This record gives sequence, C-alpha cells and structure tokens, in this order.
Amino acid sequence: MKKIEAVIRPEKLEELKDALKKGNINGITVDQVMGCGQQHGWTEHYRGSEIMVNFLPKVEVKVIVDDSKVQEVINLIIDTVKTGEVGDGKIFVSDVSECIRIRTGEKGLDAL
Ligand SMILES: Nc1ncnc2c1ncn2[C@@H]1O[C@H](COP(=O)(O)OP(=O)(O)OP(=O)(O)O)[C@@H](O)[C@H]1O
Ligand SMILES: [Mg+2]
Repeated sequence: MKKIEAVIRPEKLEELKDALKKGNINGITVDQVMGCGQQHGWTEHYRGSEIMVNFLPKVEVKVIVDDSKVQEVINLIIDTVKTGEVGDGKIFVSDVSECIRIRTGEKGLDAL
C-alpha cells in the first residue's frame, strides 16, 4: 500500500473529490494547511535576517491505495488540479505498512 499526499490549491478540492469518487477511490483525508514551495511565499527582512511572513493556504489530500493504483491516482490528481501556473502543488508518495478497519478487524487491502 502507498500513501499519496497531494498539496493542492484549495479551490480545486471539490473537483478532485469528485474525480477520486469517479475513480472508485473511497477513503480520503483532507487537511487545511499553510505552506510554501520554491517561491518561498512572501519574505521580509527582520533584524537583519529574511523571515517568512506569509504562508499560502493550501489543502492536503491524503489517499492510501493499493500499489497497482498509484500511477492512476497520480495521473487523476494532475489532470484535475493542474493549471500550469506556479503554486499548482505537489504530490508525495510513501509506503504504508498496514491498514486496519476498526469496526471489523479487517487488514491490508481488504480494509481500504
Ligand atoms: N519540499 C516540500 N516539502 C513539503 N511541502 C512542500 C514542498 N514543496 C511544496 N510543498 C507544499 O506544496 C505547496 C505548493 O507548492 P508549490 O506548488 O508552490 O511548489 P513549488 O515547488 O514552488 O512549484 P511551483 O514552482 O510550480 O510553484 C506548498 O505551499 C507547500 O505546502
Ligand atoms: Mg511555488
């Protein structure tokens, strides 16, 4: 299993939620986050050093899927949220060792 974390523009969340549903991805977790990428948000000088004064609001969408679905979900996210402008976001993929459905005790792919 893999965890796919996509940091996206907040205004793209609804569209992505619908696209994931259409792609038969059921479980998702969504966080409102603040962040910056290679443009560093906005910076200002304070007591001789450059500090960040503004992170930009983003939304982080987390989906755990079977390894075989990873590329499909990545493509779906890109197709849905890409504008081609800076700040489109980023996708992180990492390993997940276990998943347990609390109600039934099912494990692994059965629990997704
Ligand atoms: N290396 C990183 N680690 C953790 N979070 C990141 C990283 N890069 C980007 N993010 C998160 O993704 C959000 C969007 O990043 P963004 O799309 O601006 O990336 P970028 O590298 O600056 O690319 P672009 O040049 O297209 O803007 C950031 O606000 C931050 O929350
Ligand atoms: Mg950026």
